[in-house]
Amino acid sequence: MVVTGGSSGIGLAAAVALARAGDEVVLLGRDPGRLQHAVDAVREAGGRTPAAYRADFAVLDEVREAGAKLVADHERIAVLVNNAGQLAPARRLTADGLDPTMQVNHLAGFLLTHLLFERLLAGATTTAPARIITTSSAAEAWGTLDVARPGRRQVSRWLAYGASKQANVLFTVEAARRWTQYGVVPTCFFPGLIRSRFGRRSPMFSLAKLAPGLFRSAEQGAETLLWLADADEALVPGGYFAWKRPFGATGRSTNADRARRLWQSSLTAVGLEASTTAP
Ligand SMILES: NC(=O)c1ccc[n+]([C@@H]2O[C@H](COP(=O)([O-])OP(=O)(O)OC[C@H]3O[C@@H](n4cnc5c(N)ncnc54)[C@H](OP(=O)(O)O)[C@@H]3O)[C@@H](O)[C@H]2O)c1
Repeated sequence: MVVTGGSSGIGLAAAVALARAGDEVVLLGRDPGRLQHAVDAVREAGGRTPAAYRADFAVLDEVREAGAKLVADHERIAVLVNNAGQLAPARRLTADGLDPTMQVNHLAGFLLTHLLFERLLAGATTTAPARIITTSSAAEAWGTLDVARPGRRQVSRWLAYGASKQANVLFTVEAARRWTQYGVVPTCFFPGLIRSRFGRRSPMFSLAKLAPGLFRSAEQGAETLLWLADADEALVPGGYFAWKRPFGATGRSTNADRARRLWQSSLTAVGLEASTTAP
């Protein structure tokens, strides 16, 4: 099981729980110190040292490099968790010329998923499909996503965040249309409001974390993820969940035409050719 954003918060909590249950976990993270801490925590939980790969998703070449290493090191991937995400502090474009929030939260995972697709195919069996799980958010509801130009600069970081989470659901919808027939089932979920490193630079979000009962722990945030990784009833292609139940997304996030258009523009944004990539 490959977990991006495995060095902190929801991803780390999921990785530890999976390791404790005996699963082989592979971690991706950006910060070397946090990644090493995650490696130690997963080893302590499961008794094995997990493979770990460092990549800053704000640099697509680092995603390509990590993807190539993963492909070289692992023959099969049964579950890919696209969970890395942030509320980007800066509104400057990345070195790839893309909105930083959209690149980290959607485009980098989109690229990585394509790079790993053959390994997901190899991880699917006749009785158990491979799974792609993406961490989205109820913030999709305020996404102002131009599906023709996902990487365009956004005016506000919260609007950028909403747009990226909308892209997560649209990615899941289109990936399900394309890949379910090959035994690869994509789903996504909203973890709830979770006390983690997320949003620590936002005064509004940090203040909200102080409200009693509003935020839950990272372990609680990982519960739906763990269920999606394992349960038969969670094998709902293109499904969007929260608290282990179907969850409603706005029409802008589930519209099949928007999902197709975003797929094409995302291929272009990350430098993939439609003719040479996964079906
Ligand atoms: N917390 C919430 O209330 C909430 C609500 C809805 C959805 N979510 C979503 O849940 C997911 C996990 O967030 P979290 O709450 O667990 O926050 P977190 O503790 O900040 O964890 C975020 C993870 O994403 C990784 N990440 C961030 N920027 C990255 C980059 N540029 N390149 C590579 N990896 C990067 C981090 O790596 P490093 O630690 O190594 O930097 C970390 O492992 C995100 O997709 C977030 O949008 C969170």
